[in-house]
Order: sequence, then C-alpha cells, then structure tokens
Amino acid sequence: MSRVQDNIISRRSIYRFEESPVEMACLETAFEAARHAPCHKQTHPWKFYVLGKEARSSMIPEVERLAVEKAAGKGENEVQEGIQKAISKILSPPVLIAVTSAVTPEDDFREMEDYAATACSVQNLVLSLWDQGIGTQWSTGGITRSDFVYKALEISPVKEKIVGFLKAGYPAAIPQREKKSIAEIREYLP
Ligand SMILES: Cc1cc2nc3c(=O)[nH]c(=O)nc-3n(C[C@H](O)[C@H](O)[C@H](O)COP(=O)(O)O)c2cc1C
Repeated sequence: MSRVQDNIISRRSIYRFEESPVEMACLETAFEAARHAPCHKQTHPWKFYVLGKEARSSMIPEVERLAVEKAAGKGENEVQEGIQKAISKILSPPVLIAVTSAVTPEDDFREMEDYAATACSVQNLVLSLWDQGIGTQWSTGGITRSDFVYKALEISPVKEKIVGFLKAGYPAAIPQREKKSIAEIREYLP
C-alpha cells in the first residue's frame, strides 16, 4: 500500500490527546496542505483561526451558558459536571482551530460549493497532521452557531460561517471505527 493510501485509511478522529504541545512548524506544514485544496472558481473560501489562551477564554461564558441549557432539568451536581466538561473541551486540547467558510447569501450554489471546498481543505489539513503523528477531531455544536462566539473571536457572520472547531494533538488513544464496505458505497454503471 502506498504511504498516502495508508495515511488516509489509518486516520481516525481522536478524542483523547497527550498533553505534549504541537510545534507551530507542524501546523504550518498542515496549513500548506490545506491551502492546496481544490476550489471552484478559485474562491479559496476557507480560513483557519488557531485559538490561543485568550481567544479560548473569551468563549467560556457562552460555553457555560450552553452547558446549563443542555443540562436543563438535571440536578445541580450534574449541571456543574456538564459545565466543567464543556469548559475542558475548549481549554484542554493542545491545539484548537476555528474553521470558517465564506458565505454568499446572494448565491446558494456558490456557498454550497465553497463549503465542499472548505471540507476538502480541512481534510488536507487533517491528513497532513496525521502524517506527522498528530490526531484531530472535527467538532460542531452550539458554539459553532453562537452570535456570542462570532463576536468573541471577531469573526464577521456576514462574511464567514464557522463550520467547526478542529481539536488537535498527539493521540492518547486511537479508536476503531466500522466503515461501510466498498460494495455498499460503489456501483459501476454500464
Ligand atoms: C462535519 C463533521 C462534524 C463533526 N462533528 C463532530 C462532533 O461535534 N462531535 C464528535 O464527537 N465528532 C464529530 N465529528 C467526527 C465524526 O464523529 C467522525 O468523523 C466519525 O465518527 C467517523 O470516525 P473517523 O473520523 O474516525 O473515521 C464530525 C465530523 C464531521 C465530518
């Protein structure tokens, strides 16, 4: 098997990271891969915001609010546990990247194609990191759709849509995943 094929097939989403930091040079190598993703009409719709301590902390009030909302009807201990877990998801990953894609409300088709291109760019980034022994998890949820988060990170919702947060770091564990067989996903038409 080629190294590229092996890299693609062995990649898994990583949910637990070692504490060791990721060198900026590794990230820059991955951004180099990300910027070479395909995009129709040369729109280059993707943008990556690597969040430092200050940027992450600025999201905490909203993370707390969303955790409380999610835990509605539960006991106080469970609510507090939920808040701590949600905060840890933001503060603990060695690297946290907000990924955005350009928005074009006047052209739905362009926006859909741009989102596809951004997903290609994310996968380039992810596979380049994986090639360097660094794992990632793409995550979405309340904070990707929150006005508060756009303001905190100074991202203009008129120009960009947050399509996810990418957590990255050296894997503490690599999960197994069942995938559909080739027969289930491919058909050769006559
Ligand atoms: C657009 C997108 C959003 C995702 N959002 C989440 C998420 O919010 N939480 C999560 O645990 N995993 C999330 N994932 C990761 C998927 O759960 C994961 O890719 C899937 O379980 C398959 O596992 P694999 O990546 O190891 O092949 C997301 C993946 C994609 C492509």
